[in-house]
Amino acid sequence: MGTARVVFDRWSDRYAARMADVRSSAVRDLFAAATRPDMISFSGGMPEVSRVPTDDVIAAATAALRESGTEALQYGSSEGRPSVRQVVIDLMAEVGVRLRPDDVVVTAGAQQALDLLAKIFIDPGDTIICEGPTYLGALQAFSAYQPNIVCIPMDDHGMRTDLLAAELERLGPRGAKFIYTIPTFQNPAGVTLTPVRRRELLDLARAYDIPVIEDDPYGRLRFEGGHCLPLRALDDEVIYTGTFSKIFAPGLRLGWVTAPHPILAKFVLAKQAADLCGSAYAQATAERYFSGTRWRRTLQDLTRTYAERRDAMLEALAEHFPAEAHWTVPEGGFFVWVEMPAFLDLKSILAEAVEHGVTYVPGDAFFPDGRGRNCMRLAFCFAEPDAIREGIRRLAEVLDDRLELYRAFAVAGVLPAVPGQAGERGRT
Ligand SMILES: Cc1ncc(COP(=O)(O)O)c(C=O)c1O
Repeated sequence: MGTARVVFDRWSDRYAARMADVRSSAVRDLFAAATRPDMISFSGGMPEVSRVPTDDVIAAATAALRESGTEALQYGSSEGRPSVRQVVIDLMAEVGVRLRPDDVVVTAGAQQALDLLAKIFIDPGDTIICEGPTYLGALQAFSAYQPNIVCIPMDDHGMRTDLLAAELERLGPRGAKFIYTIPTFQNPAGVTLTPVRRRELLDLARAYDIPVIEDDPYGRLRFEGGHCLPLRALDDEVIYTGTFSKIFAPGLRLGWVTAPHPILAKFVLAKQAADLCGSAYAQATAERYFSGTRWRRTLQDLTRTYAERRDAMLEALAEHFPAEAHWTVPEGGFFVWVEMPAFLDLKSILAEAVEHGVTYVPGDAFFPDGRGRNCMRLAFCFAEPDAIREGIRRLAEVLDDRLELYRAFAVAGVLPAVPGQAGERGRT
């Protein structure tokens, strides 16, 4: 499925051992297929940037050059421009987090923050704790540093803190380097950690003396339900990564991290080695975008758009998907997670789905160890509602074909029966 040609690699014995476990991003691999004109893509978590008014972006980018002059074209500080850090401070204050300028470092997207956090924390063989499933870009970033990744299962209310407690008990105090979590509108599962579990997670982390990394790209994209405070608002030791990708545009490659100062000092050293400093021009553009445009109205419009798409996907799933399917019901963000009976291998079915003109990401991409092949992530953020309905119909056809076969075997007593009630949870 990838675009790279497979060729004999005569340098294969020269690469560092740390690259052995780094897998290609399943989403990037699907990009080529997703560009076919008739293809309906549920694979990439791509924001609908066409809804960001071009005039606003041009005005911000022009003002950045006109008003910041050569500064926007020069190297800047590794921590980031003071005025963009002020934008971050204002945004975070709105979700209950009070910061000062020296609490914030601007990054090239949240992805860079995850990579640099991995760089400063992980030695080969260290244990780190994530949700299972978790963000595949984090798995890519972390696995380069050769950790032992422990995945804590989730249910419809986010990470199972009872299972986290059991794991921490087994590992003992300081037994893991960090806990990485996406508590709000999780990628890929779409679920949100309840307020009670947020408290429990933080209490456990304190009790076992383990840093928490909170990754929060989707928190402002809420469609309904009560507002949830980020973990960082409840505990100022939490390391928090944020991004402009989903509230403005990923093309700017801008995010941020906030953490206790000793950690930030190490982080800045790692950032200097990685890129000296972030793009001053991108930062100056973001400053102008958040101070001089109707960005709040744009964000509301974007959120409404995603909510309509989520609704279209949930309705189509209820109408077309087989009774054996179970799916999550996200209150915000970009993703629905679908679980099929254990014997169905959604990785091997993907090629057939692509032939039918629809793509998704098979669930094993979101686990470090090959689990999740009976699951898939469906991104509803990028297709129009009609295309979503059609894509789900196509996908249901492919799944039905496979299930017919298994049902026939099950009737003949060759395979275990398909668990019939599994779809009910997603339909309520
Ligand atoms: C959970 C999560 N973390 C981090 C990122 C990276 O975002 P950025 O574009 O800021 O690098 C993404 C992007 O989709 C994401 O879903």
